[in-house]
Amino acid sequence: MTVEPKRPPLTDLPEWKALGEHFRKIRDVHLREFFAGDPKRGERFAVEDAGLYLDYSKNRITGETLALLVALAEACGLSQRIEAMFRGEKINTTEGRAALHVALRMPRGRPVFVDGQDVGSAMHEVLDRMADFAGRVRDGAWKGYTGKRIRNVINIGIGGSDLGPVMAYEALRHYSRRDMTFRFVSNIDGTDFAEAARDLNAEETLFIVSSKTFTTVETMTNARTARRWTVQALGGDERSVARHFVAVSTNAGEVAKFGIDTAHMFGFWDWVGGRYSMDSAIGLSTMIAIGPENFRAMLDGFHAMDEHFRTAPFARNLPALMGLLSVWYNNFFGAQTSAVLPYDRYLKRFPAYLQQLTMESNGKHVTLEGAYVDYETGPVFWGEPGTNGQHSFYQLLHQGTKLVPCDFIGFCRTLNPLGNHHDLLMANLFAQTEALALGRTEDELRAEGTPDRLVAHRICKGNRPSNTILGEELTPGTLGRLVALYEHSVFTQGVVWQIDSFDQWGVELGKVLAKKIVAELGETGEPDLRHDSSTNALIRRYRRFRPPQ
Ligand code: F6P
Repeated sequence: MTVEPKRPPLTDLPEWKALGEHFRKIRDVHLREFFAGDPKRGERFAVEDAGLYLDYSKNRITGETLALLVALAEACGLSQRIEAMFRGEKINTTEGRAALHVALRMPRGRPVFVDGQDVGSAMHEVLDRMADFAGRVRDGAWKGYTGKRIRNVINIGIGGSDLGPVMAYEALRHYSRRDMTFRFVSNIDGTDFAEAARDLNAEETLFIVSSKTFTTVETMTNARTARRWTVQALGGDERSVARHFVAVSTNAGEVAKFGIDTAHMFGFWDWVGGRYSMDSAIGLSTMIAIGPENFRAMLDGFHAMDEHFRTAPFARNLPALMGLLSVWYNNFFGAQTSAVLPYDRYLKRFPAYLQQLTMESNGKHVTLEGAYVDYETGPVFWGEPGTNGQHSFYQLLHQGTKLVPCDFIGFCRTLNPLGNHHDLLMANLFAQTEALALGRTEDELRAEGTPDRLVAHRICKGNRPSNTILGEELTPGTLGRLVALYEHSVFTQGVVWQIDSFDQWGVELGKVLAKKIVAELGETGEPDLRHDSSTNALIRRYRRFRPPQ
């Protein structure tokens, strides 16, 4: 287990203090001034690498800010931490595990060491088995119990075992088998399963039960319901399970106990965190949808961004820059939230995916050594695809009292060229970043003849920061690059905040309490409730009004 060296408190670092000083000097400078003072700002504060273009010029920074942020990253040991991650050190200290998702996308033949063992060949063996299975499902060689080919695939999983697969399926739908149906069941609410299965023929339906632990109550409850649904529809024969269920897990014992043949299990490892697992076997549904070659292209995209993160100097390193800018707003400007606004319909689940990645990783209140932090950590992350958001919450972004740094994501070419739709879409993206940055002044409004009584209402103060991430086209490789960009940005932030970005102890308490309450809901007599008075009253009321047991 890696022993964490004692480090000085973050806020005592001279680099942190220097940023504080610098903040006081530039906090009131308007982006209009920055752009007016430097006609080349838009090019100067932009980087193109690993297949993505990042324009970060509409941020409230100067060259000095950048230098100070980079100095902070160095002082926090970002270079060493990156190397430690890539070397497979146990950087997830509270769980005593490596966080080696970068290994999942290494090209064949590159050794990957965990605990002194090369796991590269095991990893590629799983990928090969996945490719073989995906190929057989896609070409109809894998048959259901009654001999029919599989036309429907339902992934059952939650958190990292759901959000990655569903996001990737939606994002890469253009590349997917259109003659097959893909659905995703995650919620323990029975409605999720009922609606996903209601119009499907069980003879043609394959369930992928995806769970790292294979003990998660939501997933196991849904998986048992799916098994009942299948067996019942296929004449009550339990043998049908073997043709209609496969598992993705690290826990062969529980998979076997559930009744799935471990020959039909695709494994991964404890050094792959749930929210970092969409490129492991957890991506099986993605691979069936888009095919093994496209899946490989996605992994190559991830890898290109990994290499960029590992080798590029921080001042030209996309994930490091994005992570440091996030620290800048979070800790110096006091921004509480951060928005991601993809201008591509296929990325509609990307914000939800990023919510787990960012908030489960960096929603932490103690340092690696267990000391309470006296500074803010991860912001609330949220978003919606453009342009829909423009007609709902953008009002607050433009004129509200809160500072919300935004990431805009768009592509130069659309996968669905229809008239001038794409130019209109992208014009909106560019216009929003411009409007947020520059705003509209009183003078401009008066010159336009705005009536006096409306001037104040129509002023947009601007000075609202954003990044723009521009890709050429949404391909499997681009998606891999994008996800890795955010993974490493989250990592950068976690390193600065000195927290463990790879554990998630906070989710335990609710699970423990739910277990207790399930037992109380199941009691035939009046249960002896010992919660707070609110929870007691809610449980009693629920018991009174639910259907008779
Ligand atoms: O509840 C948190 C969590 O542990 C996530 O981190 C994880 O992605 C999810 O539950 C699902 O876990 P599993 O894949 O083990 O079912």
